[in-house]
Amino acid sequence: MHFYGTTGVNKKGHLEIGGADAVDLAETFGTPLYVYDVALIRERAQGFKQAFEEQNVKAQVAYASKAFSAVAMVQLAEEEGLSLDVVSGGELFTALTAGFPREKIHFHGNNKSREELEMAIDSGIGCIVVDNFYEIELLKSISMEKQPNEMNVLLRVTPGIEAHTHDYILTGQEDSKFGFDLQNGQAEKALMEVLDSPYFNVQGLHCHIGSQIFETTGFLLAAQKIVEKLAEWKNKFGFEAQVLNLGGGFGIRYTKEDEPIPPSQYVSEIIKEVKSLNEQYSLAMPEIWIEPGRSLVGDAGITLYKTGSSKDVPGIRRYLAVDGGMSDNIRPALYQAKYEAVLANKPLAKADDTVSIAGKCCESGDMLIWDLPLPNPEDEDILAVFCTGAYGYSMANNYNRLPRPAVVFVENGTAALVVKRETYDDLLRLDLPLK
Ligand SMILES: Cc1ncc(COP(=O)(O)O)c(C=O)c1O
Repeated sequence: MHFYGTTGVNKKGHLEIGGADAVDLAETFGTPLYVYDVALIRERAQGFKQAFEEQNVKAQVAYASKAFSAVAMVQLAEEEGLSLDVVSGGELFTALTAGFPREKIHFHGNNKSREELEMAIDSGIGCIVVDNFYEIELLKSISMEKQPNEMNVLLRVTPGIEAHTHDYILTGQEDSKFGFDLQNGQAEKALMEVLDSPYFNVQGLHCHIGSQIFETTGFLLAAQKIVEKLAEWKNKFGFEAQVLNLGGGFGIRYTKEDEPIPPSQYVSEIIKEVKSLNEQYSLAMPEIWIEPGRSLVGDAGITLYKTGSSKDVPGIRRYLAVDGGMSDNIRPALYQAKYEAVLANKPLAKADDTVSIAGKCCESGDMLIWDLPLPNPEDEDILAVFCTGAYGYSMANNYNRLPRPAVVFVENGTAALVVKRETYDDLLRLDLPLK
């Protein structure tokens, strides 16, 4: 069994997280339940921030709130001195409601609506990451109407590198729905348009090369391509970027197959490369921004389920069903994501059985874990699935009209409910009768 952060086994022989007994948490708050280890989120945030501070490099570490957006989570990000990346009016509204410092909010998205952009401009957020020509026109038209102050923007570019886990692919022209292509002239055209307009202060460039990346090579290559282009643009337009945002995507350990590297290693190698490239091209060192999502909250989250029915398929497998599934964690169904789990009421018992964990939704594909070694399960065990903190609750849905789970934060033995469990009334809140 792999222990993340403050997880361990207490005197009762139960799984413990943040000093709280996981079985007690399940009893108190019900299941399925998302539990976050706050100390581990703080540790991860500090890991990224300190790596920049140690090298005296101006930086912003922006939490990509799509990984898990909730008022308390945004407030925790603020406590840790992070910036915030939002990608929709809803995430922005959450951030504003949480009282997050507006100047540290960055707004992303490949199809921001006029209403969303107006909301961002009216609330005075720190910067808009401009994704496409349509958005440039929308921003110009809003600016003409509202005459706001010059808005800070980054241009999102696709540098022709796609990274995934240990693979990175160099592509000539990246086939992506996001951003301006750096190679085919689109990015340059976009730069000229925003430089020519009185409404924009172009702070620099942004790219995001992929997710669950375990090596630094992809980030370094992306930095290379971008800085080369910036050198060209300095000569052509006298443009110098104050900010280089290299996005998120830093990998985490879901199962024993994953071997992540520490945040400090990503950061120090990125800094080294950007420094050397800027010296090579005689450019001023920009601020480096990054946007970790998964690597800040992923391994700090555990989902607790109650086990229910089981089914033996003789000679093939045994299915064990839990009281949640693809409605609270769609990642296994969506992209075959893998997880590890233990029984929270007996985490150290010998795993002499192998079961496959099924969800309760009416979909054969609603499987959470295949072939999980577990002790012989008994009625109403509590199954703890590790590393569900990113893109779990944030992708939860009401398929089969299952209410979404509650979320609790645990720290120093205290558990705080931060998102209430949905009720059946919540499910009907927007429904209207036929007549
Ligand atoms: C632009 C951007 N930044 C940051 C992230 C966060 O990625 P991760 O959670 O893998 O760190 C994403 C994820 O999709 C993204 O699209």
